Amino acid sequence: MTLTYFKRFRMEIDLGLQKLPLVECPQGYQLTPWRETLLEAHARVKYRSFCDEMDAHLFPCFGSLVGCQRLMRDISQRTGFLPAATWLAVYCGANGRDFEECGTIQGIVDPQGFGSIQNLGVTPPHRRRGLGAALLAQALQGFQRSGIFRVQLEVTAGNLAAIRLYRRIGFRTLRTVYKAVEIHSI
Ligand SMILES: CC(C)(COP(=O)(O)OP(=O)(O)OC[C@H]1O[C@@H](n2cnc3c(N)ncnc32)[C@H](O)[C@@H]1OP(=O)(O)O)[C@@H](O)C(=O)NCCC(=O)NCCS
Repeated sequence: MTLTYFKRFRMEIDLGLQKLPLVECPQGYQLTPWRETLLEAHARVKYRSFCDEMDAHLFPCFGSLVGCQRLMRDISQRTGFLPAATWLAVYCGANGRDFEECGTIQGIVDPQGFGSIQNLGVTPPHRRRGLGAALLAQALQGFQRSGIFRVQLEVTAGNLAAIRLYRRIGFRTLRTVYKAVEIHSI
């Protein structure tokens, strides 16, 4: 077993100081607000979005559907869980008749009153169409409506697609943190 340290950035946006860019949901997609009956759908999308990504090494729960179901239950039962910042993306197709769950984001408010983005994930076939940006903007509007202006998140330093997206929306790096992970060697 080897202890490996993964570099991560803590990023923040201050919605009091900064205007959110206008982000439209890409054509053929819909964003659905949180309700309890969507818990399983969020877990499925989370699993399909993260299972093959580097974050699955840092957070083993991402590596199995059961782990993602447990994580979704934990998030939705936390005291600060914010339904207004929790959205599911669904692909409906050009004619509106297809149906595929393909994106998820969840928000909580921590005890200090900071908003926190939990997990933004888009399944691989639906990436690079602006869906990640649309989900993030929708969640941030939910924080704003709830009177929460400073919103933070953590991202692994090698996750260039996510970092580029967060910067484009207006997040700035606050500090660097390291997460220690025990990697099983063969
Ligand atoms: C991060 C993620 C949510 C982005 O979703 P998405 O729907 O592709 O996001 P968007 O289409 O709105 O934007 C993607 C941006 O990343 C860029 N990008 C995509 N792949 C990239 C790569 N390999 N290197 C650098 N930039 C990349 C795109 O060019 C785009 O930026 P731009 O619009 O400024 O050009 C998605 O890649 C994902 O689910 N990744 C796995 C889960 C994850 O790591 N989540 C973040 C946890 S902190």
